[in-house]
Amino acid sequence: MSLAQRRILLGVSGGIAAYKSCELVRRLRELAAEVRVVMTEGATQFVSPTTFQALSGQPVRVSLWDEQAEAAMGHIELARWAERILIAPASADIIARLAHGHADDLLATVCLASAAPLYLAPAMNQQMWAHPAVQANVTLLRQRGAHVLGPADGEQACGDVGSGRMLEPHELRNALQSSFGGGVLDGLHVLVSAGPTYEDIDPVRFIGNRSSGRMGFAVAEAAAQAGAEVTLVAGPVSLATPAGVAQRIDVRSAAQMHAAVLDAARQADIYIAAAAVGDYRPNEVSAQKLKKLDGAKLALQLSENPDILTSLSTQPEHPFLVGFAAETHDVADYAQDKLRRKGLDMIAANQVGDGLGFEAADNALQLYWADGAVELPRAAKPELARQLIAQVAVRYRASRR
Ligand code: C5P
Repeated sequence: MSLAQRRILLGVSGGIAAYKSCELVRRLRELAAEVRVVMTEGATQFVSPTTFQALSGQPVRVSLWDEQAEAAMGHIELARWAERILIAPASADIIARLAHGHADDLLATVCLASAAPLYLAPAMNQQMWAHPAVQANVTLLRQRGAHVLGPADGEQACGDVGSGRMLEPHELRNALQSSFGGGVLDGLHVLVSAGPTYEDIDPVRFIGNRSSGRMGFAVAEAAAQAGAEVTLVAGPVSLATPAGVAQRIDVRSAAQMHAAVLDAARQADIYIAAAAVGDYRPNEVSAQKLKKLDGAKLALQLSENPDILTSLSTQPEHPFLVGFAAETHDVADYAQDKLRRKGLDMIAANQVGDGLGFEAADNALQLYWADGAVELPRAAKPELARQLIAQVAVRYRASRR
């Protein structure tokens, strides 16, 4: 992983989002980054230095005037040690002090004394974030090369709704990871299909399914973060295009998805089919709204849609193919059968129901390929997507050897 042995200085300033930075340290450590934490006095009102010490495995520094700590690693040495400085949360106060070149505490001093790229993850009340003084300071820091990550919109700890929430730990970790380059999918073109398909019956009705598209969108985002050029073919979903996705093609029906995927696959090295494609479509789409048949049974004639993955796997040249299998029972058997039947390189199987799978925030996956398997335990979809991408990258490289 590109964060292994990377030296990250995490600055924590005073704000309720400081609790999220504990999780951030864990996530950085998971990828074997070296993390040293510097807190402002204010930050220690929210989280104790002991917590960060336990999570980072390193002494935490707060004061410039700590003789013992200075003897072990002076603040200038610490500033030189860092390859990246990330301040999360970055309060309005630290942003102002940095913008004006203050050196009135350890964190501000280290930032001045370091040549490392500076990343800021602002977190504050939406009114504060919108204040012209804060915006002017942020603009100044940006002009000097600081990278500002977020903030996100949404509900805030103070009850307000607006812009000012700190980005989630995994988003900050991913930003740091991509800042080092060398992603596992660098130079590759990845095609992802996501969401449901709608098969129209008449102008107001359709046959659809419960796919939210969230897993596929998370996969597209994770692939982009891993350095791939990503094309996302999306069924009807109400999701924003993930950061870093180069191209999005919106479709509605299985036939449209089939055409869009086959076309985009010509440029793709890897195709990840996370869409829940309708297996059948009405034989004909009524031009007018169908009327109720007073008591009589209505029969819809359906015909089968072509399988997109099989259409690709039967072509002489095709991308590395990753399918999904959402099953309510006998997951392993059905998945392995699908892997063979559809001619896939890999399949990601999941159990649907029990709060997992469709419409849920979490998922769990079992991955199978011709001669191996691995289990990705229950996690939030973005995290799971990242793990899936790491596995896909390994199998893809193995297949090209
Ligand atoms: O056969 P089943 O629909 O369960 O297979 C699921 C996998 O096959 C998913 O990866 C899905 O995107 C893909 N699929 C497809 N074309 C279809 C139906 C499903 O590529 N017509």
